[in-house]
Amino acid sequence: MTLDTPMAESPEISREAISAMRRSYGEAGITESSINPDPIAQFSLWLKEATANSMIIEANAMVLSTLGQDGPSARTVLLKDVDQNGFTFFTNYQSDKSRQIQANPKVSLLFPWYPMERQVIVIGSASKIDQAESEKYFATRPWSSQIGALASSQSEVIDSRQVLEQRFKELAEKYPQGSVVPKPENWGGYLVKPSSIEFWQGRYSRLHDRLRFNLSGSNWNLERLSP
Ligand SMILES: Cc1cc2nc3c(=O)[nH]c(=O)nc-3n(C[C@H](O)[C@H](O)[C@H](O)COP(=O)(O)O)c2cc1C
Repeated sequence: MTLDTPMAESPEISREAISAMRRSYGEAGITESSINPDPIAQFSLWLKEATANSMIIEANAMVLSTLGQDGPSARTVLLKDVDQNGFTFFTNYQSDKSRQIQANPKVSLLFPWYPMERQVIVIGSASKIDQAESEKYFATRPWSSQIGALASSQSEVIDSRQVLEQRFKELAEKYPQGSVVPKPENWGGYLVKPSSIEFWQGRYSRLHDRLRFNLSGSNWNLERLSP
């Protein structure tokens, strides 16, 4: 942009507008006495509330951060299961994220539930789930997603979109709708076993609530962090 470009005509958002963005957060907090002492139960409650909130379109979307030998990276994946063992998502085992997890299984998961002024951050260790479990889940996916997973060598550079669509077409002919699509060898789930889970609730005057559970042996210890 040159200096004499009129700001009103700029298609870009101004830096002043970005720095002025802020909103006030509400009154309802989360306290040591109101939080469920079982962080998985507390997470399930918040996930249920986020799912019921029409402002949140994909409540199970979470930002998975990994740290590989080539540095940090982050991307969104979908939570597909949660229980006392941890948090499960599915992906390609030869993708960039999987290479990074192989180099360093320590990851973080972040659920950004902004319309509810909430955020949950999980730190944990990721490991592959059983092939049989992945197969079971793969079989429940829509046919087009199954073909899409087969067609994509996730994270690889490709020459054009056409290459991808051609591959999809060939596989769709090989496995027509209604037939059993085999799970790709290199596709499956990861379980993230949590070592800490932080619940963040926006409060007035930036005095937000941050309650973090840390796993010690088989017990969860709760601590409050300064916002
Ligand atoms: C809302 C949303 C949900 C997504 N869910 C998944 C998912 O469950 N699994 C997955 O592999 N990629 C998912 N993606 C794509 C990833 O963000 C990412 O582009 C892809 O996994 C490749 O990441 P990588 O190259 O870092 O391995 C999703 C993207 C968005 C925006």
